Amino acid sequence: MYRDYYCNEPNEKLIGQDVKLSGWINKRRDHGGLLFIDLRDRSGLIQVVFDPDNLKENEFHWNQFRSEWVIQVQGVIQKRPEGTENLNLPTGKIELIAKNYKVLNVSKTLPFELTDFKEETDEIIRLKYRYLDLRRSQKYEILNLRHKVVKFIRDYLDTNGFLEIETPILIKSTPEGARDFVVPSRNNQGQFYALPQSPQQLKQLLMVSGIDKYFQIVKCFRDEDPRSDRQPEFTQLDLEMSFVTQEDVLNLTEEMFTGLIKSLDIDKKFNSPFQRMTYDSAMELYGTDKPDLRFDMQIKDFSSLSKDNPFKVLSNTIKNKGVVKGLVVPGGSAFSRKKIDSLVEYTRELGGSGLIWIVLEENPGSDDFEFKSVVRKYLDLDYVKNISTTHNAKKGDMILLVAGENKHTLEILGQLRNKLGRDLDLFDKNELNFCFITDFPLFEWDEENKKWTSSHHPFTMPHEEHQNNITIDNASDIRAYCYDLVANGSEIASGSIRIHKKEMQEEVFSILGYSKNETNELFSQLLDAFEYGAPPHGGIAPGIDRIIMLLSGTENIRDVIAFPKTQSGFDPLFESPSQLTAEQLNELGISIKNPENNSN
Ligand code: AMO
Repeated sequence: MYRDYYCNEPNEKLIGQDVKLSGWINKRRDHGGLLFIDLRDRSGLIQVVFDPDNLKENEFHWNQFRSEWVIQVQGVIQKRPEGTENLNLPTGKIELIAKNYKVLNVSKTLPFELTDFKEETDEIIRLKYRYLDLRRSQKYEILNLRHKVVKFIRDYLDTNGFLEIETPILIKSTPEGARDFVVPSRNNQGQFYALPQSPQQLKQLLMVSGIDKYFQIVKCFRDEDPRSDRQPEFTQLDLEMSFVTQEDVLNLTEEMFTGLIKSLDIDKKFNSPFQRMTYDSAMELYGTDKPDLRFDMQIKDFSSLSKDNPFKVLSNTIKNKGVVKGLVVPGGSAFSRKKIDSLVEYTRELGGSGLIWIVLEENPGSDDFEFKSVVRKYLDLDYVKNISTTHNAKKGDMILLVAGENKHTLEILGQLRNKLGRDLDLFDKNELNFCFITDFPLFEWDEENKKWTSSHHPFTMPHEEHQNNITIDNASDIRAYCYDLVANGSEIASGSIRIHKKEMQEEVFSILGYSKNETNELFSQLLDAFEYGAPPHGGIAPGIDRIIMLLSGTENIRDVIAFPKTQSGFDPLFESPSQLTAEQLNELGISIKNPENNSN
């Protein structure tokens, strides 16, 4: 038997009792003849006192102990002498007086400090030694949170009649917007499996099977560039239901998230009910389909007030079918010139032609209206007074204007709004603000490749009024039963009601540019199934990693995954991806075109 308790469990009730504990040496302090160590396991720490008077000579003398050695200690729990208690520790009122110990394993000096961990420790080193990084309590807390979240979800869905069903990982390419990871087949040389970007078609097939309510906590694979909230391999809670409307899916999702957060012991407040906003309103008011609604600052339209302005940058933009839109920044007159210049520079980096700033001057004791601007000589006082009154800008505020094409202008202002929100601390970091974005367009125009693409995926059901009229001519107008759950400016989940009729699905594929042959080659498994009584169905897929990021307050997805990949998709621990042996390649019938490129 290695231990009677986890390290943080002994308390004053055990005073005088003999206990055995095992763990890692967290820290050692030599006090002239006495050695104090903090013994650590995943639960926490306990102070252990090694006094030569109590101990027999052993294989290792306790003076040799070093950090991260694994030891077993048997001894007596004792109250700490007065004045030496540590009230920050659950075990801070007691200590273990060692009588016997065993060194279970020694450790080399660690490549980085765990006890006095420094956040700036090189991430590649931490990922190479991920098993050491995970010894930190902060990491354990995140893994523990992840476990609790997944357990809550499983229990919740089980209670609500869902079946957890595994779907294959070796499948065929499914179009979800990213590149596939592929796996060569040894038995069918020259042929490949694809790892699923999500089990989208499989869960729809399960609805055709009459499963009715399905879920799965499932790994998904997408060969796209990792970002701070994106990994090539990530986890979804994938779920699907039959005979449901959009309202049913949103209600279930909201109830599940609300129950989840309440079940966790975390210091976060959240809005209930969740907000609802259409895609068009989100774009118009916040310049993004994932608005951070913890703060206000909506985008305002200054176009009609600017159309006759003598300042040509404004009026010509409107004449050329553009817009003048902007933000009112509360208290923005306090910005330094350097800060304002950095906003102008940021707008340029986003591809904007410029940012017009207008500072409404604060004149204490005076009613006179005055303003400062880099284009002061082109703007008259009446115009500034007019736009200020219309859009509620007060003295002390700053107005930021962008003139240009509508969509691009909104996108720039959306990003500028997020930056200002962060820079000005406009939100409460302990708040979770949830919003469903609904009614996405069914299609989006891809200017680069000059074709229509799905704004989510091709299986999404258009609104009733468009269902009998899915044509290229009205592609841009069609709205869909398609929704995202957004929290604090991040997309947490995405889903839709699906098409369940073959003809409608074929019409959508044809708008997306698939020929009849391609449609058959890629989607016959689903289209065939639709001919055998497919029920109406719909679902959603929240990203588990993103939920944990949100709940733990981290902005780096690698923090919430036990063994993540780097920004370049590399795993420094296993050093993968890596080369195959000549024998393996031969068996697969694969030859590498440019062997010199085939190294890390
Ligand atoms: P979608 O592609 O929007 O929808 O993905 C659903 C959710 O999965 C998470 N997610 C990711 N998380 C980490 N890294 C990634 N690379 C990544 N990509 C996506 C996000 C996202 O909201 N089959 C559909 C769902 C459906 O329609 O039911 C789908 O996969 O949180």
